[in-house]
Amino acid sequence: MSGNGATGEEVPGGRQVRVEVFPDGEALSEAAAALVAAQATEAIRARGRFLWALAGGRTPTRTYARLAELPYREQIDWGRVEIFFGDERCVPPEDPLSNYRLAKEMLLSRVPLPMTQVHRLACESDPEEEAGRYEALLRLMFQGRPWGFDLALLGLGADGHTASLFPGLLPPANTWVAVVARPGESFRRLTLTPAVLNLSRLLVFLVTGRDKAPALRAVLTGEEAMAASPVHQLRPPAGEIRWLADQEAAALL
Ligand code: 6PG
Repeated sequence: MSGNGATGEEVPGGRQVRVEVFPDGEALSEAAAALVAAQATEAIRARGRFLWALAGGRTPTRTYARLAELPYREQIDWGRVEIFFGDERCVPPEDPLSNYRLAKEMLLSRVPLPMTQVHRLACESDPEEEAGRYEALLRLMFQGRPWGFDLALLGLGADGHTASLFPGLLPPANTWVAVVARPGESFRRLTLTPAVLNLSRLLVFLVTGRDKAPALRAVLTGEEAMAASPVHQLRPPAGEIRWLADQEAAALL
């Protein structure tokens, strides 16, 4: 994967975190698509399946679209891919707010992936019940595996949130799927929690745009302002974290 160079940044605990910086969102999306394809190919070859948790929000839109195009559409054995969601707004699947809707429009409806292998967070009716169902599904799907997801894509909010994990609204430590009521929103959310995300083999953050620059710097350098960011709880003991940022988002690094 070619960036225009990586910037190493120290984070709390002294772990070296590598941020790969790309000239723009298009270059980042291309690199992210190549990364997904590489991870899928390796997982399918080694373990027969690729368990992938999608990121919500708008940032991954172009990455999803590229994966539905050549060469990636042909490179990935979509029949062996299991799709999950890092979080969802509890709205109908056709609602413009739905993370599922975006993923289906840009990718899932455009590749030969059986819809039985697309595990939507169907929380529009009963979020609490769906949280329990989804957690049971994940525990079943992870059985016998050396880790949980082979890959989880994540975004970063300007306030330092990721998935639907918001500073000050963090779920109980031992849950895998949590209901979140974000102040000011008319809908509730479901989110995967650090407990289950930390079982991943690889977490990849995709961050673009100048508005994310302060949060990216603060999170990566451990600034007090973002000390409560749930990103700091993401440390997969058997896995790796990678950051892909465009130059605008990396402007303050
Ligand atoms: C959500 C997302 C959220 C998102 C960030 C970045 O459902 O809101 O999962 O965590 O990834 O807010 O959003 P953008 O990519 O739209 O900037």
